[in-house]
Amino acid sequence: MSTPKRLLLVNGPNLNLLGSREPEVYGRDTLADVEALVTSAAAEAGLEVRAVQSNHEGVLIDAIHAARDDCAGIVINPGAFTHTSIALRDALLAAELPIAEVHLSNVHRREPFRHHSYVSDIAEVVVVGAGVHGYAFAVQQLARVLS
Ligand code: DQA
Repeated sequence: MSTPKRLLLVNGPNLNLLGSREPEVYGRDTLADVEALVTSAAAEAGLEVRAVQSNHEGVLIDAIHAARDDCAGIVINPGAFTHTSIALRDALLAAELPIAEVHLSNVHRREPFRHHSYVSDIAEVVVVGAGVHGYAFAVQQLARVLS
């Protein structure tokens, strides 16, 4: 039997507080719920998942570098680093893997500083404003790209 392909699921700063942080914007589901949802959506597509969440840019960058060795794609909600981090963008470019960018909220309906993403133009898939379901959709679309 061949080894299943793996996705790296990356959640950036403050997403550890999902469920209790601004629930009117981000909903009541927790990070554990998101990771379980992604794992199950990936399993349906025959993919494994390695999940990382960190509030530290360098930890996220190291995890993305490591994905070069054993992952087939990356699902990422970079949180506020979306709008600020050229370093995260460079790490994603270096990984040379297909990317699905997810935002729980519709960033385009929010403050102007959330309208620009350093990731969207290098992503295969961008899902915004669909809440946690956006992660499952992103996995399905990434699986399609990978097949
Ligand atoms: C977010 C949107 C970002 O602007 C914000 O900084 C987050 C969460 C989202 O999922 O909607 O932390 O990425």
